[in-house]
Amino acid sequence: MRTHADTKGFIMAKTPSERDAIDVLMEDHKRVQRLFKDFDRVERDDAEAVRDLVKTACVELQIHSMLEEELFYPAVRAQVEDDDERNQDLLNEAEVEHESVEELIAKLQDLQADDPMYYAYFSVLAEYVKHHIKEEEKELFPEVKKMKALDLQQLAGDMRARREELFAEIEEAGESEGENELTPARASPDPLSEAEPEEGEDEQEQSDISRTRH
Ligand SMILES: [Fe+2]
Ligand SMILES: [Fe+2]
Repeated sequence: MRTHADTKGFIMAKTPSERDAIDVLMEDHKRVQRLFKDFDRVERDDAEAVRDLVKTACVELQIHSMLEEELFYPAVRAQVEDDDERNQDLLNEAEVEHESVEELIAKLQDLQADDPMYYAYFSVLAEYVKHHIKEEEKELFPEVKKMKALDLQQLAGDMRARREELFAEIEEAGESEGENELTPARASPDPLSEAEPEEGEDEQEQSDISRTRH
């Protein structure tokens, strides 16, 4: 894959059209992990800040999960032979982990941010997701990169288009539903998104979900 380098030799970021499906998913992972770090630093007594952060992370996760379940996993599964137990297992486990995450998100939607269990549910959700991300990045994605018949550029384009649709759907649902529903971050900005990026982190990867709209 082509990358840009400036005159000082720094590698420049890929443009949206150069990112493949795995790049897109890994960018999502980074954003969510940054939100988890924000959550570690948030003032627990500030129910509004906690709720905003949780909402932002849950919307990120919902959209990311849908992109994987509707597009990425099926495309990968189509490349996996029936007797390829290892890759079948990786995909099956990924889908089970998504189910657990969805259940925790549903629980959070039912709770008020000042509920004593709210913090606990999100903490467990974060642990699940971190584990899941690690498995995808360390085990599944390297296998996917070996699948030469899989057009990861085309898949990235399909995922970007679907993301736009999902944003519109969730935004619309947020406008017609109550205050406790999860709404896109553009309507409810991450309160810590202006925080200084940690050392070594790319400022462009601030935890602002609006930047996921390519
Ligand atoms: Fe996943
Ligand atoms: Fe993922």
